[in-house]
Amino acid sequence: MGWTKALSESELPSGARQVVELEGHKVLLLNNDGKIHAVANSCPHMKLPMKKGKVTEDGLIVCPFHRSAFDLATGEPKEWTPFPPVVGNLLGKIKGETPLPVFSTRVENGDIMVDVV
Ligand code: FES
Repeated sequence: MGWTKALSESELPSGARQVVELEGHKVLLLNNDGKIHAVANSCPHMKLPMKKGKVTEDGLIVCPFHRSAFDLATGEPKEWTPFPPVVGNLLGKIKGETPLPVFSTRVENGDIMVDVV
């Protein structure tokens, strides 16, 4: 537990993303214009993978399934299951708004380190 090497910095150039397994967590690493983020690869709504989630210009990651949007830095939900129209609203009641787990990152001697708690 604690700071764990996830990847070498060279394995995650700007715009890249990768899922790694750290201490039993599937962690999605993204390099968003040089800023490295680590979030759970599992959407808190229905535990579907976030790997293909779109990253918006204002720093949100959008779940590819029902399009819940989370702040990449804090995991705070900004939208909850807006898709598909009407049905998304019902699906959102399966589970109430829940943040996406996020993990701290740092680069140390060319390695991307993630604080897995
Ligand atoms: S699984 Fe992500 S919003 Fe439903």
